[in-house]
Amino acid sequence: EYKEEFRKELVDWFDREKRDLPWRQTTDPYKIWVSEVMLQQTRVETVIPYYKRFLEKFPTPEIFAYAPQEDILKTWEGLGYYSRVRNLQAGVKEVVETYGGIVPDNRVDISKLKGVGPYTAGAVLSIAYGKPEHAVDGNVMRVLSRVLHIYDDIALPKTKKIFEEAVMELIDPHHASSFNQGLMELGALICTPTSPKCLLCPVREYCRAFEAGDAAQLPVKTKK
Ligand code: ADE
Repeated sequence: EYKEEFRKELVDWFDREKRDLPWRQTTDPYKIWVSEVMLQQTRVETVIPYYKRFLEKFPTPEIFAYAPQEDILKTWEGLGYYSRVRNLQAGVKEVVETYGGIVPDNRVDISKLKGVGPYTAGAVLSIAYGKPEHAVDGNVMRVLSRVLHIYDDIALPKTKKIFEEAVMELIDPHHASSFNQGLMELGALICTPTSPKCLLCPVREYCRAFEAGDAAQLPVKTKK
């Protein structure tokens, strides 16, 4: 019952309050993949115009897979981390050549693609295909450390698995896209690193850190 209520409040809040972002107008797995790669090291506001130009120039996996390096770099220029777009092209080429241009809809196959790690895999599977798969990044770890009162050190590589397992326990199997994006959006808008806006939070009733009054002290993060 806790779980069902939490899911419902999170999913309903996301569906009601989500920002109108260009990658939220589509469920095309290729386009979701592009957005997630861009968003990995770059802020939303910066990504928006790049995302639009990129998909105007390379609207399909086939067009992007065989586009000249020079055109690609020109479209990416300013986003930085150029290895991201080289890996993306290599991965998309694999999709075209091995899967007939269809991005795999299961974690085993999608994870074999160049540049697709556990986060990107889960984001594409849940957002594009509605699959109940975890997509855990730093923002999601922060949100869940607070909601579930998880004190594991997020600076340790082995901690990620704890959060991935927590998401798999909690995720709404019928609304996986809004559930995962709801966690991301909560982290971006409400459950921020400092001064979380708990009084505006749709799941504060279900949040152990809100109850304890220590949300701003979480997550536990050593070093740096
Ligand atoms: N950051 C990572 N993925 C995102 C998404 N789908 N929407 C907004 N911000 C994000």
